[in-house]
Amino acid sequence: MSTDILGQFKLISGQITAEAPVNLSNSIFSGTITIGAFSYFNYGCEVGDAEIGRYCSVGQHTLIAPGEHPMQFLSTHPFTSDPSGVSAGMPDNDDYARIACTGISRRNTPKRVGMARIGHDVWIGARAIILRGVTLGHGAVVAAGAVVTKDVEPYRIVGGVPATPIRWRFPSDLRIQILDLEWWNYDLSGLAEPRDYSDVEAMVERLGELKITGALKPLAPRTSVCTA
Ligand SMILES: CC(C)(COP(=O)(O)OP(=O)(O)OC[C@H]1O[C@@H](n2cnc3c(N)ncnc32)[C@H](O)[C@@H]1OP(=O)(O)O)[C@@H](O)C(=O)NCCC(=O)NCCS
Repeated sequence: MSTDILGQFKLISGQITAEAPVNLSNSIFSGTITIGAFSYFNYGCEVGDAEIGRYCSVGQHTLIAPGEHPMQFLSTHPFTSDPSGVSAGMPDNDDYARIACTGISRRNTPKRVGMARIGHDVWIGARAIILRGVTLGHGAVVAAGAVVTKDVEPYRIVGGVPATPIRWRFPSDLRIQILDLEWWNYDLSGLAEPRDYSDVEAMVERLGELKITGALKPLAPRTSVCTA
């Protein structure tokens, strides 16, 4: 296991492709997952199929892209859709195998399909749930305990169940400038001291100048792949 991936984690099945560094501390992964540099999970998160950008902060016990069950079959239980028993944690179980479906005449068509897409610089509060198929724009914030059922625009703060807008992080013109700058695609080590990121307008201006002169190089992180 590469040390570019920090923290203990469990990959149940699938593949994690991660830029360095990331911290997956005590979280559980299952599916096809990509994670951008500097993103980190607090403990106890569970992640399904997901694209997660750079510089994301994921609060403890957050669920991203949890599995969906068929609701139009006789039962929502996996015995109606998964003959292997893997998704119920009952592979090679005789009792399961005796009742498991042997064929599926109608397609399982859950409304929520696909991966969760999480942009760069997204902060997800503790115990939030990001459903499948949802896109969180760059710079979005998800409040603690939110259930996100719909796409969230870049730099929106959302909260509640279901999540609705609380406010914007920055005014419109600044949001446009930051999205145009795409600072997450550049190696910030090219920025000479002082590095005071709290003055956003000044930082956007300085980074913009460095980008134009070529002093700011593209970020080119190492990539690790884990499979299970
Ligand atoms: C959303 C959050 C970032 C605060 O954002 P904010 O814009 O400063 O919010 P405010 O405290 O000014 O509250 C604004 C409104 O949002 C509501 N709100 C704040 N947090 C909320 C939450 N978690 N869920 C639902 N609504 C919330 C407030 O009640 C308030 O509603 P009102 O306008 O009707 O009175 C913060 O509440 C939060 O959830 N932080 C996450 C902390 C966390 O989980 N950390 C884990 C470690 S990574």
